[in-house]
Amino acid sequence: MKKRYLFFSVFFTVVAFMPLPALALHSSLYSKTWQCTYCHPNGPGTRPRTPCQDCHNNATGKNYSDQSAPEVAYHSSGVIGSTKYGTWERQCLDCHDPHKHNHFDGSNGGIQDPAAVLVDLDVHNATREGIEFTFEITGMTVNNPNWSDPSTWSRKTGNERGLLFVYNNKGKYYFNKVVRATDTTITIQNGFTNFPLVPWENPFHAQLMYGQFIRDEVNGTEVNFSSPNAMANDESGTGVDPTPDGICQVCHTQTTHWRSDGSLSNHFNGWDCITCHPHTQGFKPVPPAVPPQPCE
Ligand code: HEC
Ligand code: HEC
Ligand code: HEC
Ligand code: HEC
Ligand code: HEC
Repeated sequence: MKKRYLFFSVFFTVVAFMPLPALALHSSLYSKTWQCTYCHPNGPGTRPRTPCQDCHNNATGKNYSDQSAPEVAYHSSGVIGSTKYGTWERQCLDCHDPHKHNHFDGSNGGIQDPAAVLVDLDVHNATREGIEFTFEITGMTVNNPNWSDPSTWSRKTGNERGLLFVYNNKGKYYFNKVVRATDTTITIQNGFTNFPLVPWENPFHAQLMYGQFIRDEVNGTEVNFSSPNAMANDESGTGVDPTPDGICQVCHTQTTHWRSDGSLSNHFNGWDCITCHPHTQGFKPVPPAVPPQPCE
C-alpha cells in the first residue's frame, strides 16, 4: 500500500511539471485539441472521471473526433444475455488502462515486448498537410506476417482505426495513428503542430504497434497483448497452453474454452477472437455469416 502511494505521488509530481505530449497517452497525439481535462474535469489525476461511454458512443465506425470514439460494451452476463455462469460483470478498467498501452513505456525504451513490434520502418523526407505527415519509406521489416500489407495499416479494426506509429524523440517514445500507407509511403496524424521533432530528423527509425490500451496486468496475471493473434494463443499446440497470458484467457475459471490455468486451449487457437466475439456485444459468441479466417 505504501509503495503504491509513493508511486502515485512521484508520478503526479512528474506529470504536473511535464509538457502535455509526454503523458497525453489516450488519443492525444492524433488530435490537435485533446486535453487531460476531458477525462479529469477538475484537473489531471482528480475525480470524478468522465465515464468511458460519454465518448465511446459512436456506433457508425467513422468520423471519430475527440469526444466521439468507437462504441463497445462491458463484458457481462447482462450484456451477453446468459446466466450460464451466474451474474457477473467486468468493466472497462478491468481490461484497459486509459494512459498506457500493453508493455509500452514512453519514458523507458518504448515498446518493451519485441513481439509487439509488428513492423520496423526506416522513413525520411516528411511532407506536411495540416496535422497529417507523409514519409517516404526507405526500409521495412515485417515482424508479424499478418501486417505485411501496408494498405491494412490504416484499418486495424475499421477504416479509421489505424496502427500506431512509434518513434523516439530526445529519449522519449511517442505514438501517432497511421491514416494511410502504401509500399512506399506512410501517412500519420500528429496533432501537436509545434512538436519538437517537426521538422523530423532525416532519416529516422519508427515501429508499428497495435495499441488498444490493454493493461499490463489483469486479474493478477501479466498479459502480453501484441496484436489480434495474441488474444489467446497456445504456442505448444497441445490444448494446454504453457503460457496462459492472453487477454481472453487470464480470468476464465469456468468457461468450456480458454481457462486461466491454460487448459481447454483448443478453440480457434491464435485466431482473432473478436471476429466471432464482438466487443460491441460484450464478447458474446456471434459467428459472422461468412466464416472468418485464422491469423497466420
Ligand atoms: C481517456 C480518459 C483519460 C485521460 C485522457 C486522462 N486520464 Fe488520467 N485517469 C483516467 C482514469 C480512468 C484513471 C483511473 C485509472 C485506473 O484506475 O487505472 C486515471 C488516473 C489518473 C491518475 C492517477 C490518480 C488516481 O486517482 O489513481 C493520474 C495522476 C492521472 N490520471 C493523470 C492524468 C494526466 C496528467 C492526463 C493528461 C496527460 C490524464 N490523466 C488523462 C482517465 C484519463
Ligand atoms: C474483457 C476485457 C475488456 C473489457 C471489459 C473491455 N474491453 Fe475494450 N477491448 C478489449 C480488447 C481485447 C480489445 C482489442 C480488440 C481488438 O483489437 O479487436 C479492446 C478494444 C477496445 C476499443 C477499440 C475498438 C476498436 O474497434 O478498435 C475500444 C474503444 C475499447 N476497447 C473500449 C472499451 C470500453 C469503453 C469498455 C467499457 C465499456 C471496454 N473497452 C471494456 C478488452 C476489453
Ligand atoms: C473524452 C473522450 C474519451 C473518453 C472519456 C474516453 N475515451 Fe477512449 N478514445 C477517445 C478517442 C477520441 C479515441 C480515438 C478514436 C480514434 O480516432 O480511433 C479513443 C480511443 C480509445 C481506444 C483505442 C486506442 C487505440 O489503440 O486505437 C481504447 C481502447 C479506449 N479509447 C478506451 C477507453 C477507456 C477504457 C475509457 C474509460 C476509462 C476511455 N477510452 C475514455 C476518447 C475518449
Ligand atoms: C477481466 C476478466 C475477463 C477477461 C479479461 C475476459 N473475460 Fe470472458 N468471462 C469472464 C468471466 C468472469 C466469465 C464467466 C465465466 C468464468 O468465470 O469463467 C466470462 C465468460 C466468458 C464467455 C461465456 C459467456 C457465457 O455466459 O456464455 C465468453 C464467450 C467470454 N468470456 C469471452 C471472452 C473473450 C473473447 C475475451 C477476450 C476479449 C474475454 N472473455 C476476456 C471474465 C473475463
Ligand atoms: C469462428 C468463430 C469463433 C472464433 C474465431 C472464436 N470463437 Fe469462441 N466461440 C464461438 C462459438 C460459436 C461459441 C459458442 C459455442 C461453444 O461454446 O463452442 C464460442 C464460445 C466461446 C467461449 C465460451 C465457452 C462457454 O463456456 O460457454 C469462450 C470463452 C470463447 N469462445 C473464447 C474464444 C477465444 C479466446 C477466441 C480466440 C482465440 C475465440 N473464442 C474465437 C466461435 C468462435
